[in-house]
Amino acid sequence: MTQQPALLQLRGLSVSYGKVQAVRNLALQVAAGSLVAVIGANGAGKTTLLGAIMGLLPSRGQVLFDGHDLSRADTQARVEAGIGLVTEKRDLFGSMSVHDNLLLGAFRRRDGRAARQRELERVYALFPRLKERQAQQAQTLSGGERQMLALGRALMGAPRLLMLDEPSLGLAPRIVREVLHAVAQLRDAGMSVLLIEQNARAALQVADFGYVLELGEVSMHGPARQLLHDPKVEATYLGLLREDE
Ligand SMILES: Nc1ncnc2c1ncn2[C@@H]1O[C@H](COP(=O)(O)OP(=O)(O)OP(=O)(O)O)[C@@H](O)[C@H]1O
Ligand SMILES: [Mg+2]
Repeated sequence: MTQQPALLQLRGLSVSYGKVQAVRNLALQVAAGSLVAVIGANGAGKTTLLGAIMGLLPSRGQVLFDGHDLSRADTQARVEAGIGLVTEKRDLFGSMSVHDNLLLGAFRRRDGRAARQRELERVYALFPRLKERQAQQAQTLSGGERQMLALGRALMGAPRLLMLDEPSLGLAPRIVREVLHAVAQLRDAGMSVLLIEQNARAALQVADFGYVLELGEVSMHGPARQLLHDPKVEATYLGLLREDE
Protein backbone atom coordinates (compact mmCIF):
# COMPACT_ATOMS: atom_id res chain seq x y z
CA MET A 1 0.00 0.00 0.00
CA THR A 2 1.40 3.40 -0.89
CA GLN A 3 1.09 6.00 1.78
CA GLN A 4 -0.76 9.18 0.90
CA PRO A 5 1.61 12.15 1.25
CA ALA A 6 0.50 14.65 3.86
CA LEU A 7 -1.27 17.80 2.66
CA LEU A 8 0.99 19.92 4.86
CA GLN A 9 4.44 18.83 5.84
CA LEU A 10 6.90 20.93 7.82
CA ARG A 11 10.52 19.90 8.00
CA GLY A 12 13.12 21.52 10.20
CA LEU A 13 11.09 24.70 10.51
CA SER A 14 12.77 27.40 12.61
CA VAL A 15 11.82 31.02 13.29
CA SER A 16 13.89 33.56 15.18
CA TYR A 17 13.09 37.00 16.52
CA GLY A 18 16.57 38.46 16.72
CA LYS A 19 18.51 36.13 18.98
CA VAL A 20 15.45 34.38 20.34
CA GLN A 21 14.46 31.21 18.55
CA ALA A 22 10.69 31.00 18.90
CA VAL A 23 10.25 27.85 16.77
CA ARG A 24 13.02 25.27 16.63
CA ASN A 25 13.60 22.60 14.06
CA LEU A 26 9.96 21.67 13.97
CA ALA A 27 8.51 18.71 12.08
CA LEU A 28 4.76 18.40 11.66
CA GLN A 29 2.26 16.86 9.27
CA VAL A 30 -1.38 17.34 8.47
CA ALA A 31 -2.83 14.43 6.51
CA ALA A 32 -5.53 15.38 4.02
CA GLY A 33 -8.94 15.34 5.66
CA SER A 34 -7.60 15.27 9.20
CA LEU A 35 -7.90 17.61 12.15
CA VAL A 36 -4.56 18.18 13.82
CA ALA A 37 -4.27 20.08 17.10
CA VAL A 38 -1.19 21.92 18.32
CA ILE A 39 -1.38 22.64 22.02
CA GLY A 40 1.00 24.65 24.16
CA ALA A 41 1.22 27.32 26.84
CA ASN A 42 1.47 31.10 26.34
CA GLY A 43 4.61 31.92 24.42
CA ALA A 44 5.24 28.34 23.25
CA GLY A 45 5.47 29.55 19.66
CA LYS A 46 2.02 28.61 18.34
CA THR A 47 1.17 31.88 16.59
CA THR A 48 4.75 32.13 15.30
CA LEU A 49 4.36 28.68 13.75
CA LEU A 50 1.23 29.76 11.87
CA GLY A 51 2.93 32.96 10.75
CA ALA A 52 5.78 30.93 9.28
CA ILE A 53 3.44 28.53 7.47
CA MET A 54 1.58 31.50 6.01
CA GLY A 55 4.82 33.20 4.93
CA LEU A 56 4.19 36.19 7.19
CA LEU A 57 7.50 35.65 9.01
CA PRO A 58 10.92 34.71 7.67
CA SER A 59 11.75 31.10 8.54
CA ARG A 60 14.25 28.34 7.86
CA GLY A 61 13.36 24.81 6.87
CA GLN A 62 10.69 23.51 4.55
CA VAL A 63 6.97 24.09 4.13
CA LEU A 64 5.59 21.49 1.75
CA PHE A 65 1.97 21.81 0.68
CA ASP A 66 0.40 19.12 -1.44
CA GLY A 67 3.90 18.04 -2.42
CA HIS A 68 4.97 21.54 -3.52
CA ASP A 69 7.73 23.37 -1.73
CA LEU A 70 6.29 26.73 -0.67
CA SER A 71 9.25 27.61 1.56
CA ARG A 72 10.16 30.56 -0.60
CA ALA A 73 6.67 31.51 -1.77
CA ASP A 74 5.11 34.76 -0.58
CA THR A 75 1.91 34.90 1.45
CA GLN A 76 -0.30 35.54 -1.55
CA ALA A 77 1.02 32.45 -3.32
CA ARG A 78 0.37 30.39 -0.19
CA VAL A 79 -3.20 31.68 0.02
CA GLU A 80 -3.68 30.89 -3.65
CA ALA A 81 -2.30 27.38 -3.07
CA GLY A 82 -5.16 26.90 -0.59
CA ILE A 83 -3.89 27.79 2.88
CA GLY A 84 -6.40 29.78 4.95
CA LEU A 85 -5.75 31.37 8.35
CA VAL A 86 -8.04 32.73 11.04
CA THR A 87 -5.83 34.84 13.28
CA GLU A 88 -6.13 35.46 17.01
CA LYS A 89 -7.47 38.91 16.19
CA ARG A 90 -10.25 37.58 13.94
CA ASP A 91 -9.74 40.56 11.56
CA LEU A 92 -13.37 41.39 10.92
CA PHE A 93 -14.70 44.60 9.42
CA GLY A 94 -16.68 45.88 12.38
CA SER A 95 -18.99 48.35 10.70
CA MET A 96 -19.86 45.97 7.89
CA SER A 97 -22.64 43.40 8.02
CA VAL A 98 -22.14 39.70 8.65
CA HIS A 99 -23.14 39.04 5.05
CA ASP A 100 -20.63 41.52 3.59
CA ASN A 101 -17.83 40.20 5.81
CA LEU A 102 -18.52 36.75 4.41
CA LEU A 103 -18.52 37.98 0.82
CA LEU A 104 -15.17 39.68 1.41
CA GLY A 105 -13.75 36.27 2.28
CA ALA A 106 -14.43 35.19 -1.30
CA PHE A 107 -12.84 38.15 -3.05
CA ARG A 108 -9.88 36.17 -4.38
CA ARG A 109 -12.02 33.51 -5.94
CA ARG A 110 -12.46 33.45 -9.65
CA ASP A 111 -15.03 30.69 -9.83
CA GLY A 112 -18.06 32.92 -10.19
CA ARG A 113 -21.18 33.94 -8.40
CA ALA A 114 -22.87 30.57 -8.25
CA ALA A 115 -19.91 28.95 -6.46
CA ARG A 116 -19.79 31.85 -4.02
CA GLN A 117 -23.49 31.50 -3.32
CA ARG A 118 -23.12 27.77 -2.67
CA GLU A 119 -20.27 28.44 -0.26
CA LEU A 120 -22.34 31.08 1.51
CA GLU A 121 -25.16 28.60 1.95
CA ARG A 122 -22.74 26.02 3.36
CA VAL A 123 -21.45 28.56 5.88
CA TYR A 124 -25.00 29.52 6.90
CA ALA A 125 -25.89 25.83 7.25
CA LEU A 126 -22.87 25.31 9.50
CA PHE A 127 -23.65 28.42 11.56
CA PRO A 128 -27.41 29.10 11.45
CA ARG A 129 -26.82 31.94 13.90
CA LEU A 130 -24.89 33.84 11.27
CA LYS A 131 -27.77 33.44 8.87
CA GLU A 132 -30.19 34.90 11.40
CA ARG A 133 -27.82 37.82 11.88
CA GLN A 134 -26.69 38.37 8.31
CA ALA A 135 -27.68 42.05 8.30
CA GLN A 136 -26.14 42.81 11.71
CA GLN A 137 -22.90 44.79 12.02
CA ALA A 138 -19.95 42.53 12.85
CA GLN A 139 -18.89 44.71 15.78
CA THR A 140 -22.18 44.08 17.57
CA LEU A 141 -21.81 40.27 17.54
CA SER A 142 -21.02 38.28 20.68
CA GLY A 143 -17.54 36.75 21.04
CA GLY A 144 -18.73 33.34 19.91
CA GLU A 145 -20.56 34.77 16.91
CA ARG A 146 -17.48 36.76 15.93
CA GLN A 147 -15.43 33.58 15.96
CA MET A 148 -18.04 31.84 13.83
CA LEU A 149 -17.96 34.76 11.40
CA ALA A 150 -14.15 34.71 11.21
CA LEU A 151 -14.28 30.99 10.50
CA GLY A 152 -17.05 31.43 7.97
CA ARG A 153 -15.13 34.15 6.22
CA ALA A 154 -12.06 31.93 5.91
CA LEU A 155 -14.26 29.17 4.46
CA MET A 156 -15.58 31.58 1.82
CA GLY A 157 -12.07 31.58 0.36
CA ALA A 158 -12.44 27.80 -0.20
CA PRO A 159 -9.16 26.85 1.48
CA ARG A 160 -7.81 23.31 1.29
CA LEU A 161 -6.20 23.69 4.70
CA LEU A 162 -7.84 25.77 7.38
CA MET A 163 -5.56 27.04 10.15
CA LEU A 164 -7.18 28.41 13.32
CA ASP A 165 -5.30 30.33 15.99
CA GLU A 166 -6.99 29.72 19.34
CA PRO A 167 -10.61 29.89 18.24
CA SER A 168 -11.71 29.24 21.85
CA LEU A 169 -9.94 32.33 23.21
CA GLY A 170 -12.22 34.29 25.52
CA LEU A 171 -15.27 32.11 24.93
CA ALA A 172 -17.48 30.42 27.51
CA PRO A 173 -17.12 26.61 27.68
CA ARG A 174 -20.47 25.99 25.99
CA ILE A 175 -19.54 28.25 23.07
CA VAL A 176 -16.08 26.66 22.84
CA ARG A 177 -17.77 23.30 22.38
CA GLU A 178 -20.10 24.74 19.74
CA VAL A 179 -17.24 26.27 17.74
CA LEU A 180 -15.03 23.16 17.98
CA HIS A 181 -17.98 20.95 17.09
CA ALA A 182 -18.35 23.01 13.90
CA VAL A 183 -14.63 22.54 13.21
CA ALA A 184 -15.07 18.77 13.65
CA GLN A 185 -18.04 18.85 11.25
CA LEU A 186 -15.84 20.56 8.68
CA ARG A 187 -13.29 17.79 9.05
CA ASP A 188 -16.05 15.20 8.70
CA ALA A 189 -16.97 16.90 5.43
CA GLY A 190 -13.38 16.45 4.21
CA MET A 191 -11.64 19.68 5.25
CA SER A 192 -8.06 19.51 6.54
CA VAL A 193 -7.57 21.56 9.70
CA LEU A 194 -4.62 22.73 11.77
CA LEU A 195 -6.06 23.84 15.09
CA ILE A 196 -3.92 25.83 17.52
CA GLU A 197 -5.27 25.79 21.06
CA GLN A 198 -4.41 26.48 24.67
CA ASN A 199 -7.63 24.74 25.59
CA ALA A 200 -5.93 21.35 25.32
CA ARG A 201 -8.78 19.18 26.45
CA ALA A 202 -11.36 20.70 24.12
CA ALA A 203 -8.92 20.55 21.20
CA LEU A 204 -7.76 16.96 21.77
CA GLN A 205 -11.36 15.83 22.15
CA VAL A 206 -12.12 16.76 18.55
CA ALA A 207 -8.70 16.25 16.92
CA ASP A 208 -7.35 13.16 15.18
CA PHE A 209 -3.73 13.87 15.95
CA GLY A 210 -1.97 16.22 18.31
CA TYR A 211 1.36 17.95 18.89
CA VAL A 212 2.53 19.50 22.14
CA LEU A 213 4.68 22.59 21.68
CA GLU A 214 7.07 23.65 24.47
CA LEU A 215 9.47 26.56 24.08
CA GLY A 216 9.26 26.32 20.30
CA GLU A 217 9.86 22.57 20.15
CA VAL A 218 7.60 19.58 19.72
CA SER A 219 7.83 17.77 23.04
CA MET A 220 5.21 15.12 22.28
CA HIS A 221 2.99 14.03 19.45
CA GLY A 222 0.56 11.24 18.79
CA PRO A 223 -3.05 10.30 18.21
CA ALA A 224 -5.21 12.84 20.04
CA ARG A 225 -6.89 10.16 22.18
CA GLN A 226 -3.54 8.91 23.32
CA LEU A 227 -2.38 12.42 24.32
CA LEU A 228 -5.64 13.01 26.12
CA HIS A 229 -4.82 10.08 28.40
CA ASP A 230 -1.11 10.71 28.69
CA PRO A 231 -0.18 11.41 32.34
CA LYS A 232 2.34 14.11 31.37
CA VAL A 233 -0.14 15.94 29.16
CA GLU A 234 -2.79 15.53 31.81
CA ALA A 235 -0.60 17.01 34.53
CA THR A 236 0.66 19.95 32.49
CA TYR A 237 -2.18 20.86 30.16
CA LEU A 238 -5.41 19.30 31.30
CA GLY A 239 -5.44 20.22 34.97
CA LEU A 240 -7.55 18.45 37.51
CA LEU A 241 -10.87 20.02 36.66
CA ARG A 242 -12.95 18.59 33.92
CA GLU A 243 -14.99 20.81 31.72
CA ASP A 244 -17.90 18.47 31.45
CA GLU A 245 -20.66 20.57 32.86
N1 LIG B 1 7.47 40.20 16.98
C1 LIG B 1 8.14 39.59 17.97
N2 LIG B 1 9.35 40.03 18.37
C2 LIG B 1 10.04 39.41 19.34
N3 LIG B 1 9.60 38.31 19.99
C3 LIG B 1 8.41 37.83 19.64
C4 LIG B 1 7.61 38.44 18.62
N4 LIG B 1 6.46 37.74 18.50
C5 LIG B 1 6.54 36.73 19.39
N5 LIG B 1 7.70 36.78 20.08
C6 LIG B 1 8.15 35.85 21.14
O1 LIG B 1 8.17 34.55 20.58
C7 LIG B 1 7.67 33.59 21.52
C8 LIG B 1 6.50 32.84 20.92
O2 LIG B 1 5.39 33.73 20.74
P1 LIG B 1 4.03 33.26 20.11
O3 LIG B 1 3.17 34.46 19.95
O4 LIG B 1 4.29 32.45 18.91
O5 LIG B 1 3.45 32.31 21.26
P2 LIG B 1 2.03 31.61 21.38
O6 LIG B 1 2.29 30.17 21.64
O7 LIG B 1 1.18 31.96 20.23
O8 LIG B 1 1.46 32.26 22.73
P3 LIG B 1 -0.06 32.66 23.11
O9 LIG B 1 -0.71 31.39 23.57
O10 LIG B 1 0.11 33.60 24.24
O11 LIG B 1 -0.73 33.27 21.92
C9 LIG B 1 7.33 34.38 22.78
O12 LIG B 1 8.39 34.26 23.66
C10 LIG B 1 7.15 35.79 22.28
O13 LIG B 1 7.48 36.73 23.26
MG1 LIG C 1 -0.60 32.95 20.04
